[in-house]
Formats: sequence, structure tokens, C-alpha cells
Amino acid sequence: MICVENISKSFNGRAVLRDVSLEMQEGETLAIIGRSGSGKSVLMKHAIGLLQPDKGRVLVDGIDIGRISYRELRTVRRQFGVLFQGGALFDSMSAFDNVAFPIRTFTDSTEQQVRDRVLRCLDLVNLSDVGTKRPSELSGGMIKRVALARAVALEPRYILYDEPTSGLDPHTSTTINNLIKGLADQLDVTSGER
Ligand SMILES: Nc1ncnc2c1ncn2[C@@H]1O[C@H](COP(=O)(O)OP(=O)(O)O)[C@@H](O)[C@H]1O
Ligand SMILES: [Mg+2]
Repeated sequence: MICVENISKSFNGRAVLRDVSLEMQEGETLAIIGRSGSGKSVLMKHAIGLLQPDKGRVLVDGIDIGRISYRELRTVRRQFGVLFQGGALFDSMSAFDNVAFPIRTFTDSTEQQVRDRVLRCLDLVNLSDVGTKRPSELSGGMIKRVALARAVALEPRYILYDEPTSGLDPHTSTTINNLIKGLADQLDVTSGER
């Protein structure tokens, strides 16, 4: 469970989050809706400890992530899959290597195991055939799907999506939404959708 408890955050004296609290239970899907600039991404970054609140705290499975070492924070973060706004793929890497990146970085998997897992993840987002392509050769919807495959590569318990369908046409948006819903059912993860 993720517990955001009364967090406040200001940048240069300007309050972005004011006394925000929310709870995300295991297996639950929660959507956060708000105007552009209202603090959705800032809130999401607090959930994985990329930003520290000025006040309040964030608990992940009971652990106050503001009071642990960087090493412990990395362990907590491993439970999260994050789909950043725009996908945030590594431009110089193929789709395959993008999905392989967290597996190679965070696990001791053999290249054969990496390969099996990457192909399975690309298959989950119906992109088995684009592994060799670089992000510049992919459409916006494909980039989001590769980013989605990368987000689930380590079998996270929680997935955070930052505007997963912004900038996509309605048809592609529906595909992404269905994938997100399908992934939540298949992987039994907790989804935070923004
Ligand atoms: N690292 C930062 N430094 C200063 N201001 C920031 C930073 N991150 C976000 N902000 C500001 O916080 C506000 C909320 O941003 P954000 O959470 O990205 O909005 P959105 O709801 O569109 O995701 C915006 O005014 C943005 O300029
Ligand atoms: Mg945002």
C-alpha cells in the first residue's frame, strides 16, 4: 500500500502541493485528474522518492521513504514500474535494449533470461516485431507501449503512469487504456494513472 500523508511542497515559495493525502491499496487503480501544472507529476515523483516533501511523509508498505538510505530507497523503487510522461526512452538504444535496461541493471539475469523476459514484455504490449528499432523510428503510441513494456519488466507491484495517453490520437489512446487495464488484470499490480 502507498500512503501519502499530508504532504506539502513548494518551489521557490510557490505552493504546488498543499496538505495532500491519499491511499492506494494493493490491486487498486486510482486516477488523478487535474489541470496542466496542478502538480500531478510532482505528486507522482514524491511517491517514488524523486522529490522530498517539505511537510508530511510517504509510506510504501509501511516504510517512510523519506527516512531511509539511498540503497534502501532503491529497493523500494524496484517495486515500482513508472511510465514517465512522453515515455522517456533512451534514444540511443533499441526498443529491446530499453526494455532490457532495468533487467540488466537490477537483476543478475543471464542474457538468455533477459531475452526471454524482454520478448515477453514486448509481446504484452503487442510489439514483438519492433525490438531492433530505435525510438526515433517509432510512432508516439509505439513509444508509449515500449515504455509500458519497460515499466513492467521487473514485475512491479505498483505501476505509475504519467499522462499515458496525452498527445495520442483517440484510437491509440483507447489501445493504451486497454493495455493498462489488461496489464492490471494480468499482473495484478496496483496502478496509479494520471
Ligand atoms: N523541479 C521543479 N522546480 C520548480 N518548479 C517545479 C518543479 N517541478 C514542477 N514544478 C512546478 O510545479 C507545478 C506543477 O507541475 P507538475 O506537477 O509538472 O504539473 P502537472 O499537473 O501538469 O503534472 C508547475 O507550476 C511546475 O512549473
Ligand atoms: Mg505532469
